Amino acid sequence: MKTANDLFKEFKILSVSEFFKKNADMLGYTGKIRSMTILVHEMVTNALDACEEAHILPEIRVEIDHRGDSHYEISVEDNATGIPLKFIPDVFGKMLAGSKAHRNMQSRGQQGIGVSGAVMYSQVTTGQPAVIISSTGEEMWEVKMNLDLQKNAGKIIEKNKINDNGWRGTKIVIEAKDVTYNKSKYSPYNYLRMSSIANPHARIEFIEPDGTKILFPRSSKTLPKSPKIMKLHPRGMSTDDLLVMAKNCRARKLGSFLRSELARVSRKKAEEIERVSGVSLDKNVSRLTWNDAERVVNAFKKIDFMAPSSEGLIPIGEENIIKGLSLINPEFSVAITRAPKTYRGGIPFIIEVGLAYGGKSEPGIEIIRYANRSPLVFDQGGCVINEAVKSIDWRRYRVNLESTPLTVFVNVTSTHIPYTSAGKQAIAMEEEIFNEVRFGIMETCRGLKRYMDSKRRAYRKKQRIDSLLKYAPETSKAISRLTGRDTDKVKNLFIKLIEKKYA
Ligand SMILES: Nc1ncnc2c1ncn2[C@@H]1O[C@H](COP(=O)(O)OP(=O)(O)OP(=O)(O)O)[C@@H](O)[C@H]1O
Ligand SMILES: [Mg+2]
Repeated sequence: MKTANDLFKEFKILSVSEFFKKNADMLGYTGKIRSMTILVHEMVTNALDACEEAHILPEIRVEIDHRGDSHYEISVEDNATGIPLKFIPDVFGKMLAGSKAHRNMQSRGQQGIGVSGAVMYSQVTTGQPAVIISSTGEEMWEVKMNLDLQKNAGKIIEKNKINDNGWRGTKIVIEAKDVTYNKSKYSPYNYLRMSSIANPHARIEFIEPDGTKILFPRSSKTLPKSPKIMKLHPRGMSTDDLLVMAKNCRARKLGSFLRSELARVSRKKAEEIERVSGVSLDKNVSRLTWNDAERVVNAFKKIDFMAPSSEGLIPIGEENIIKGLSLINPEFSVAITRAPKTYRGGIPFIIEVGLAYGGKSEPGIEIIRYANRSPLVFDQGGCVINEAVKSIDWRRYRVNLESTPLTVFVNVTSTHIPYTSAGKQAIAMEEEIFNEVRFGIMETCRGLKRYMDSKRRAYRKKQRIDSLLKYAPETSKAISRLTGRDTDKVKNLFIKLIEKKYA
């Protein structure tokens, strides 16, 4: 029999990066096509986030080169702020590190794991370092680096200062094996096409492995407003959230902590929290116990607060959705930005829906899903957007699920997207989000139905006119014989009469 000491000889502490190396599927790295698209996605979302925060019109260049069997080189270049040299190892080599996860702000990235996960995937499939070229406008560096998996840290192998040529931004070059390129629905091509639809202010250039250059042009020159950091709303908080914040805040007393750190807590509300929870507002906040925090959070649930402000949320906007959908060249399009709502009581979100009928849409419904403008390409089955689309009685809106060429666009904007997993490809079934997507679709569908009805009426009218016109030559001949008038004149008069009567 083995002893506890024997067993515990095997005891080891795994770092975050070792964990994700073993569980790369959790980051979305499963299958050759999906892995390729996820690599592109992680780098492109970062580029767009960085441009948005710095208020820069994005110019992004993605290039994929074929290196050998299931072996490619992928590079993504942006014109954002660049990254200071001292942060490069942490950005690309440390998992759970970044500028977004700890801020309550709308952004595409929210975990601090995306691009370091991509570098990790590159390293474990090819053994090659990542190459980062970045210029902040003050300094430009080319850095070769990899990940120290045990330490969850980036390691610079080589760095060279480059003479500034006026360019500012970041270019990342990685190699990857166990990936492949094609032009399917799940490919980087479609991913970038979808990105362009939801980001009409971005110019995206794409070079495919065979050298084909594709440009997704900018269809709107208006820069979206930069999202703002928002305070957390009491209703969206757990006991643990409250305790962690309390330990890290500058305030000394519970009362000033609640008022300064949380949204919608006025002096009066703080007094109400004190009354309902029984925890004194004078309590030293660093001494808050789990029990105190739990009582305060329970009080949050019993008290009415103003809904959280959605001021910091920046939706795409109806006009820009229509501009984005123009990439499909639709015969008809309609878009709606719904009023802000909250889920789980305190997390604000905005739903936007667009419909594009005809043009390059294939027969049947294509659902294009987005979270904070970032396309969700995989795991459609488990996503609230898909469930909401499925719940619609499409026949009421003259849509046939198999034959109507319809693209359904849905974007969820929030400070916190409730993804179903770290791979960030599906949004969880939150009831409020489900309902809002449904309402948004129904609202846009009313516009679609009006268009379909008018199209149907026009079609019927044309059919009726065409069937009457078939009789025009024979009838004109007969009338001309009876009246002695010229056949062509009679025929022209007859045609005019039909068109006038049924116009
Ligand atoms: N192209 C870029 N330009 C400027 N900063 C960047 C760029 N790419 C990444 N960063 C910085 O590096 C951080 C880490 O990026 P990473 O993709 O790992 O995480 P994230 O984007 O914060 O969240 P997620 O895991 O959801 O992608 C970002 O938070 C951002 O601060
Ligand atoms: Mg990211």
